[in-house]
Amino acid sequence: MTDFSLHDGQLFAEDVALEQIARTHGTPVYVYSRAHLERKYLDYADALQGVDHLVCFAVKANSNLAVLNVLARLGAGFDIVSVGELERVLAAGGDPGKVVFSGVGKQRDEMRRALEAGVYCFNVESVSELERLQQVAAELGVQASISLRVNPDVDAGTHPYISTGLKENKFGIPIEDAEEVYLQAARMPNLRITGVDCHIGSQLTSLAPFMDALDRVLLLVDRLAECGIHLEHLDLGGGLGVRYRDEQPPSASEYMARVRERTAGRNLKLLFEPGRYIAANAGVLLTRIECLKINEGKSFAVVDAAMNDLIRPALYEAWMDIVPVTPRQGSGRNYDVVGPVCETGDFLGKDRTLVVEEGDLLAVCSAGAYGFVMASNYNTRGRAAEVMVDGDRHHLVRRRETVTELFASEQVLPE
Ligand code: LLP
Repeated sequence: MTDFSLHDGQLFAEDVALEQIARTHGTPVYVYSRAHLERKYLDYADALQGVDHLVCFAVKANSNLAVLNVLARLGAGFDIVSVGELERVLAAGGDPGKVVFSGVGKQRDEMRRALEAGVYCFNVESVSELERLQQVAAELGVQASISLRVNPDVDAGTHPYISTGLKENKFGIPIEDAEEVYLQAARMPNLRITGVDCHIGSQLTSLAPFMDALDRVLLLVDRLAECGIHLEHLDLGGGLGVRYRDEQPPSASEYMARVRERTAGRNLKLLFEPGRYIAANAGVLLTRIECLKINEGKSFAVVDAAMNDLIRPALYEAWMDIVPVTPRQGSGRNYDVVGPVCETGDFLGKDRTLVVEEGDLLAVCSAGAYGFVMASNYNTRGRAAEVMVDGDRHHLVRRRETVTELFASEQVLPE
């Protein structure tokens, strides 16, 4: 994580000491690096120079307005899965004409709002959704651009909860049925077929499954052309992995080069929906050690962040690096780093060798994607603050939730 590094014995985000952020804003706090977000977005965009393309950041990975705004300023598109995400993109200055609307259960109101806003394309996942979209578009007297999300039945080789491209998953239309569904869509007057889409899973660390999926989708593109359906774009979804520990994922430029090679001469606009690749290593979760519990055979560092702030370790047994913000000298002890929530599954990391004392700050690394966005108020804990660092400046981009806010919309029964 080059944008988070040690200087003079202290961990910095760009040119700002994390200690200073914790002092100013308290903990737990998510800290993002603007430079990292920009560089990772540009990895994709630069590698696609010279071909028609759209890089749509997957808003679900990190939907903070400041994050979306930084990317919008670079010309990014956005991949959304709800009207809520659409409103965020609009509020952050994103261009609706660069938005793709994914998701397996879009509601009528969401479709209506997206059509009014003028999104680029709906990634449709079923015949029933096609019919629904046709109806809504007809009511509004407009045409909806669509692509079908096909399920190419390839094994992404990733965690089962984040693998989506197999037949048994709920996502997409089985690729062998896709031709028939396209023909049905072609008969719907308020739909305009523009593309094809697939997303096979997340945190992929090899290009092989992507290229297998691409090959299968290109066969479909050719079959469709024979039926007179000429697609304008190809959306390969997100999924490119990042390094949490010792993974060696391919770079975006390698991936883009392979896709460009394979699609050369086809006149297809290329779309991608990266989330994790852009945001994961752009963020850390800063937390303070409340107390150290040294039990026989097991030691715990109880910190002020918990599974409600960052659920990836509890939910996927995800390994995320945990480092002291101001490293100490000495011999380490083996700790489980746990939060104050009343669940045995409330841990951020297990078996970590740390030299720490009570009151020390820890940074949970690679927390910029699927971190804050998956936070909850479990145990009536307000959600953390979020800060963005930009060179030597830092900005509060979401203030900490207060306890009164948490139950402000609740009511007791009448007398
Ligand atoms: N496009 C679609 C249709 C998706 O479903 C996803 C992620 C993406 C793009 C972005 O994928 P990425 O580039 O970030 O891999 N919460 C899990 C990850 C869930 C991913 C869901 N879909 C985690 O923390 O690992």
